[in-house]
Amino acid sequence: MNSYYAMTKIIVANWKMNPLTVSEALKIASAVDVKGVVICPPPPFLIQVKSQLKKAGLGAQDVFGDGPPTGQGAFTGEISPAMLKKIGVEYVIIGHSERRRHLAETDEMIGRKIKAAVSAGLKVVLCVGEQLSVRKKGLPAAKNFVKSQLLKDLKGTISDLQLRTSNIIVAYEPIWAVGTGKPDNPSETADMAKFIKTILASRFMIHASRVLYGGSVTSSNIARILKYDEIGGALVGGASLKPGEFKKIIKISKKY
Ligand code: PGA
Repeated sequence: MNSYYAMTKIIVANWKMNPLTVSEALKIASAVDVKGVVICPPPPFLIQVKSQLKKAGLGAQDVFGDGPPTGQGAFTGEISPAMLKKIGVEYVIIGHSERRRHLAETDEMIGRKIKAAVSAGLKVVLCVGEQLSVRKKGLPAAKNFVKSQLLKDLKGTISDLQLRTSNIIVAYEPIWAVGTGKPDNPSETADMAKFIKTILASRFMIHASRVLYGGSVTSSNIARILKYDEIGGALVGGASLKPGEFKKIIKISKKY
């Protein structure tokens, strides 16, 4: 905790396409309204969840990256960064592996989303992570994969906009660990987090950055993950929908 990396941990709740109703959403949100937590509900619940939160921050799970800076226009179905900002959204998850896979999001699209979000004053949680086939070749192969994602996703950000530690957080989410009940080995995660910080500092001038871990985080493994100073918090999917379980995760996170 005394090292250069030590910082208060944050816990980001990625609800994905859950729950089904606004009343369920409000019930979960009110139970876990704690400082240092960021709740990312689906778009239909953002405004109501926001009005309920007193301590936790609010995040979106995606944003449109190709609209005009005015934040409005003929783009059916899309949500602009300016719209999110105006309803009190502070963070936005960009490049989640489920969107990369199911919605064919490319690194180029992700790069444009990052620029649009940061320009509108949102903080970005950029998700990166390798497939199982890559990790099977070893941690160095996974690092190479993640490095290439970062270089592509953040390309042009130095000249186009000043990304700072305060407006970009990277979440390392190995794809094989997401929703599988098989989290990464925490010491390898810490090694990867340190590597990501080095890339951000050396290639993008983003110093003392925050790197989160995501992938099957629960109350039984969170302590082993957060004990590493390099890991600045967690991005939690499934477990963030169970208030009792998520409260335990938050409570444990406060010890680090
Ligand atoms: P999980 O999801 O915690 O259910 O593995 C994490 C995520 O997708 O962000």
